[in-house]
Formats: sequence, structure tokens, C-alpha cells
Amino acid sequence: MAEEKNLLEVSHLKQYFPVSQGFHKVPLKAVDDISFTIKPGETLGLVGESGCGKTTVGRTLLRLYEPTAGKITFDGDVLFDSGEQYDANGELVVDEKGRPVLGKKVNVDMLPYRKQMQMVFQDPYSSLNPRMTVEDIIGEPLDTHKLYSSKGERRDKILSLMETVGLNAEHAMRYAHEFSGGQRQRIGIARALAVDPKFIVCDEPVSALDVSIQAQVINMFEELQEKMGLAYLFIAHDLLVVRHISDRIAVMYLGHMMEIADSDELNEHPIHPYTLSLLSAVPIPDPKTARQSKRIVLEGDVPSPLKMPSGCPFRTRCQYATEQCAIAKPQLTDRGNGHFVACWNR
Ligand SMILES: Nc1ncnc2c1ncn2[C@@H]1O[C@H](COP(=O)(O)OP(=O)(O)OP(=O)(O)O)[C@@H](O)[C@H]1O
Ligand SMILES: [Mg+2]
Repeated sequence: MAEEKNLLEVSHLKQYFPVSQGFHKVPLKAVDDISFTIKPGETLGLVGESGCGKTTVGRTLLRLYEPTAGKITFDGDVLFDSGEQYDANGELVVDEKGRPVLGKKVNVDMLPYRKQMQMVFQDPYSSLNPRMTVEDIIGEPLDTHKLYSSKGERRDKILSLMETVGLNAEHAMRYAHEFSGGQRQRIGIARALAVDPKFIVCDEPVSALDVSIQAQVINMFEELQEKMGLAYLFIAHDLLVVRHISDRIAVMYLGHMMEIADSDELNEHPIHPYTLSLLSAVPIPDPKTARQSKRIVLEGDVPSPLKMPSGCPFRTRCQYATEQCAIAKPQLTDRGNGHFVACWNR
């Protein structure tokens, strides 16, 4: 049987932000050469500490930021390609003077793709205009993409979207500021769904919400996925949240991808020392297992992305680090069953 095609393919994606340092501009490497794929209807969880580049990945995919380099393919169409080429070992192809050999560059108009790729933001307070009514917020993407032929049809679509996300359709004329955090997040989800997308970047969509309603919203994401065949990039700090909703999980550190595997595989057989430390920070409900499992406490802080360590970005905090780790950055290698790890020593 032929393998199902990927919906999204990201390769060698880089996002460098120019920041001022004294009188100079230097590149802050928020995302530095990461690759992954997502299949239709699949959820890829993306985890890592604050500042490791998760939001930047999401925003760059949707081209809210212009990528610095790399290639993004969606549903068979190349949306962006900076032209750099890589060999089978993941090394940049260069000419005799060391300059990258460039292929064809691509940079498409994103407007038609915005109908297929959407984002739900972390903070439902700042991402919705409090002075707009729910009807106007959900109606905005319908207007942009001209998705109705009459005022009545527009209204019906908005009311049906409100029902889909569990909002009372009688509240359509209320203002966003009149709603609770959880309800606002439902408005944000309805806005994302208005265009009938295939893919949604969910950027920590429940972390600003009360614990009591986090589960409700997560369950809704799962139900919507089932009903509409949506694919998600689901960003979170909390491995517990991601573990539940994800088919696969990707672990990022300082702009780099450290490990990627099926959700169960990653949780049961984590390999990268950074993933081990993230997992050991997850509270274990059973006190007996908790006593047996050794907690790995990370030493030191995350280095500044402006002072990236040589070689492996994690080596300054890694208990397995050897000389080689300072010399060269390990590539993601296949350890079997779709489990990829970037580590020299494990
Ligand atoms: N527009 C920008 N200009 C300059 N630097 C930026 C910009 N956006 C993000 N950064 C920097 O890029 C790095 C990655 O930030 P990003 O917000 O993607 O991390 P994150 O993993 O989403 O963190 P968090 O978990 O706190 O949301 C950080 O060092 C951040 O300061
Ligand atoms: Mg973020």
C-alpha cells in the first residue's frame, strides 16, 4: 500500500531575526535548520522550554514571518523555497568557493493558502479585538475570502460556527470583552474554522485558561479534528497536554530539533537527554513509581540564542556531553520506527 502523502513538509527551515547589539545588527537564530512533516488529519505536538522557537516555527509556517531560509510545501504546492540544496547527509551543497549552490527560488502569494492554514493564538485576550462583536470577529475571514453570496448566508454561517464551538448563538451581537477566557478561545477557534481549513497551528491554546476548562477545550480540538479531518501543529510547554492529543511529538531546544517520534514511543522510550529531563519534570501521579524514577534536574539556564554553544546546542547542560559534542552538531538520525534523535552519545 502506498504511504499517505504529507500535508505539510518543512525542510531546513531557518528564521533569523536581526537584533541590535551595540552599533551592530546580529542575527538571533530563533529557528535554525529544522525539518518535519505532518500528514492530513494528524497532530504533531511541539514542545520545549520558553524561548526555544515554537511560536516562531508556527508563525513562519503561516508566513506571518518571512522565512530566512528553507522550504515549505503544503498539499503538494511549494509555498516557499530559498533555493539552498542539501545532500543526503543533510550538508549544504556549496561550490568550490564555499558559496551555496542555489536552485529555483519560490515565494507564492499566500492569500489563497490562508483559507487552508490557520492559527489559534495563546492569549485569547490580546488576539481578539475587545470592541468587535462575535459576529464581526467570526465574519472577518468570511469577508476576506468572500465565502457567502448573501447577508443571510453570512449570518447562518456565523451562527453555525458558534454552535460548532459550543457558544450560544444568541450572543452573536455581544462584544469579545464580555466573554470569559475559555469562551474567547472558542471564538478564536470559530474564526479559524470559518474558512474550512485543513491545517491549524494551535499555539499553546489552553495555557492561558483555568485548569478546570483546559480539558474541555482540548476535547473540543479533538472532536473538531475527528469531524473535519483537521491536521494540527499543537504547541505546548506541558508534555502532559501534548502527550494526550498528539500522534507524534517533536522536541525543540534553542531553535533546533532534538527528537521526534510517535507520542507513545517518545514517552515510553525517550532517547535524547533533553527529552529525558522534560519527561522527568512531568509529575507522576503514582507515588510508588515516582520514588523509583530518578529525576533529572537540568543544570544552568538556557543559553542566549545570541551566544549559541558550538556543536550541539544542548551540550552545556548535558550530563552525557563529550568533546565531540563541542566540535560538531549531531544530525537527526533514524533509530527505527520513525524515531529520530540528534545526539552523538545516546
Ligand atoms: N520578532 C522577533 N524579533 C526578535 N526576536 C524574536 C522575535 N520573536 C521571537 N524572538 C526571539 O526568538 C526566540 C524564540 O522565541 P519564540 O517566541 O518563538 O519561543 P517560544 O518557544 O514560543 O517561547 P514561549 O514558550 O515563551 O512562547 C526567543 O529568543 C525570542 O526572544
Ligand atoms: Mg511561544
